[in-house]
Amino acid sequence: MIEFVLNGYKHSYDGDPEISLLKYLRNIAKITSVKDGCSGQAYCNDCLTEINQKPQLSCITPLKKLNGAQITTVEGIPQKLRDIIVNAFLIEGAVQCGYCTPAMILRTKILLENNPDPAIVEIRKAFKNHLCRCTGYLAIIAAVKRAALALKKQKSISLPYSGKIGQSLPKYDAYEKAIGASPFVDDLSFEGLLAGALKFSDFPRARILSINIDEAKKYPGVVAVFTADDIPGERFNGLIIDDWPVMVAKGESTCYIGDVLAGVVAENEDSAREAVNLIQVEYEELPALTDMETAETSSIKVHSGGNLLDSCKIKRGKPVDEIFQQAPFVVEQKFETQRIEHAFLETEAAIALPYDEGIRIYSQSQGVYEDRKQIARILGLSIDQIQVILIPTGGGFGGKEDLTVQHHAALFTFLTNRPVKIHLNREESLIMHPKRHPFRMNYQLACDKKGNFQALRVKILGDSGAYASVGMKVLQRAAGHASGAYYIPNVDIEAKAVYTNNLPCGAMRGFGVNQVTFAMEGSIDQLCKKGKFDRFQIRYQNALDKGLC
Ligand code: FES
Repeated sequence: MIEFVLNGYKHSYDGDPEISLLKYLRNIAKITSVKDGCSGQAYCNDCLTEINQKPQLSCITPLKKLNGAQITTVEGIPQKLRDIIVNAFLIEGAVQCGYCTPAMILRTKILLENNPDPAIVEIRKAFKNHLCRCTGYLAIIAAVKRAALALKKQKSISLPYSGKIGQSLPKYDAYEKAIGASPFVDDLSFEGLLAGALKFSDFPRARILSINIDEAKKYPGVVAVFTADDIPGERFNGLIIDDWPVMVAKGESTCYIGDVLAGVVAENEDSAREAVNLIQVEYEELPALTDMETAETSSIKVHSGGNLLDSCKIKRGKPVDEIFQQAPFVVEQKFETQRIEHAFLETEAAIALPYDEGIRIYSQSQGVYEDRKQIARILGLSIDQIQVILIPTGGGFGGKEDLTVQHHAALFTFLTNRPVKIHLNREESLIMHPKRHPFRMNYQLACDKKGNFQALRVKILGDSGAYASVGMKVLQRAAGHASGAYYIPNVDIEAKAVYTNNLPCGAMRGFGVNQVTFAMEGSIDQLCKKGKFDRFQIRYQNALDKGLC
């Protein structure tokens, strides 16, 4: 028997002594303010607890080490002290999605108890392992400073909001988020909730010769195992083009390593994941197309319609060739940007429940109406039979626009008539959801002797990866913004998106504009070097203004 005090209450536990404190807190004690952002890799610090007055990560602390321990989570901080810290965070705007915030509040408490007047460098050091993808650390440092000052003066912090017109209001739900009382999807629990886990492809491109689910079905706790054959409606879906299969069927080829081949539903997540490992897939591995330029001309076709997803051209003014021949200063340069992961701290999760004559889904998506439409088609139900409830997301940045696990959870509920949750671990999240497009760009820019831009020619190639997502729109946006914030009378721009067997690419903050801005600004700097122009002045004199377009 392991006994400890948690937030002032005695707890006794005689189960598996190896389970982590994080699992105990979330699954048994139902304290969900401690978050699982890195799947037990001790990397994000979202699962921070205070154990015997010391900060400790609960994901790497087995329960067997906690006999006699005093454990505190954000719920155990005395109300008055907690209000001071939380209100300091609210006033400084240090709470955004809130996924990381309960751990930050607890860290602040531990820091200020040990060092009531920390210097900025000491605050930075205390928070150096806390990952936050939304807020920005300056606001967090300011909040810690504000809380320290209030505690030093023994004053409370009240929120300076009167509700009068012209005054900012506190961010909606921010207090609840800060103390972990506003649930994310993985924090919700329902009677009889089953767990789903997915079998992903072992190869980016391979023909599926067979899928054997017999051993997985026999694993203790397993309720059912499903493959593509079990999908009642449309198997392919997508935000714009229906090219993404819910599950790849026997006889078909995979397009990337995030393709799903089968799914297990079990009494708990551990059993579901163990059973997934027992699914045997026979593959014929095929050469994968991993280079976007090769994809343009390759005989390997990612999809039967060819590898060109979309192309877009924008021309204005005179033919640019003539201008380049005559202009006194011309630069030409290639630019390349990389695929970028959103790294939202809350990985994907969805819960589906039988509901009336259909299915209800709790989704963290950035587009619940799109979820609803697509899930109805996949299940062969009318849209009225699908209800999607938006649960605030723990960071998205564009990476949660496409369906990831919502449709799998809905399908498994539809087939079992039981509530099902699917929660991706960090590794699965990384391989499954779309990223920022890598671009290869060729820029040619000309100006006259005074530095006035004369002509721009741009060719952009974007790697959309295995599926379309919103790739065509990203490249269209890139083309539209390729000349930056500048007036250029003659332009010739072409943007293409191609399919490859890489991870799909889709929406991410900036939506294609970041990449071309990097190239455009780089080209201007090259022109400045060549023509000895001032880097500010050339931008100022060429900037768009009223009446110019
Ligand atoms: Fe920190 Fe969103 S507020 S991860």
